Amino acid sequence: TVAAPDLSAELEKIGTLEQLQALCRELFIPEPGELLVFGEGPERSRLLLIGEAPGEKEAESGRPFVGNAGRLLDKYLQKAGIRREEAYLTNVLKTRPPGNRTPRASEVQEALPVLLRQIELIRPAIIVCLGSIALHATVDRKAKITEKRGVWLEKDGMRIMPAFHPSAVFRDEQKRELLKQDLAAAAAALREQGDG
Ligand code: URA
Repeated sequence: TVAAPDLSAELEKIGTLEQLQALCRELFIPEPGELLVFGEGPERSRLLLIGEAPGEKEAESGRPFVGNAGRLLDKYLQKAGIRREEAYLTNVLKTRPPGNRTPRASEVQEALPVLLRQIELIRPAIIVCLGSIALHATVDRKAKITEKRGVWLEKDGMRIMPAFHPSAVFRDEQKRELLKQDLAAAAAALREQGDG
C-alpha cells in the first residue's frame, strides 16, 4: 500500500476517476473472492449519493447499491423523479468490512482522502449523505443523523442533504417516509439548479 504522506501527493496527480479507481486497487484490498466497489455514474454528475460501505451483493458484483438497500434506494429515487443513471453512487469505504460490520473510525480515515478526491473530480452540485458514516466523513465527525437529516448543509459550494441510510429504514415506516422526503428535496433542488 501507499504510505499516508505519499498518498496526498499521489492524489494530487490524479486527474480522472479512472486513475483514482486504479489507485484504489493498490490501496484497498478486498477480502478474498470479493471485489472493490469504487462507485458508478457519470464522471460529472450533478448529484452524488454517498453510502457507507459495500455489502455482500456489492462486493460480489463490484457495483454500489445493488442489494436490498439498493433496491429501496432505486425505488425512492424513481419516486423522486431521479434516474439512477444520472446520479453518481459511491460509498465511504470501497471494500466490504468483514461480516458487514460498521466501518471503524480508522477505516473511515483511511478511505477519506480518496472520497474527497472523488468528490473534487465529480464536482457535484448536490450530495446526499446516506447515513451517519457518510455524514461524519464528509461534514462533521460528531453530527447526529437523526438531528441533521432533512436540513441542507453547505460545503465548498456544494449543497449537502443528510438522509437516513436505506438499510436503517427497512423496519421503520416513519424513517422510510423521511428518506423518501429527503430524496425528493434533493431532486427538487437538482431541478431548480438544472434550469439555472
Ligand atoms: N449499503 C451501503 O452503504 N452501500 C452500498 O453500496 C450497499 C449497501
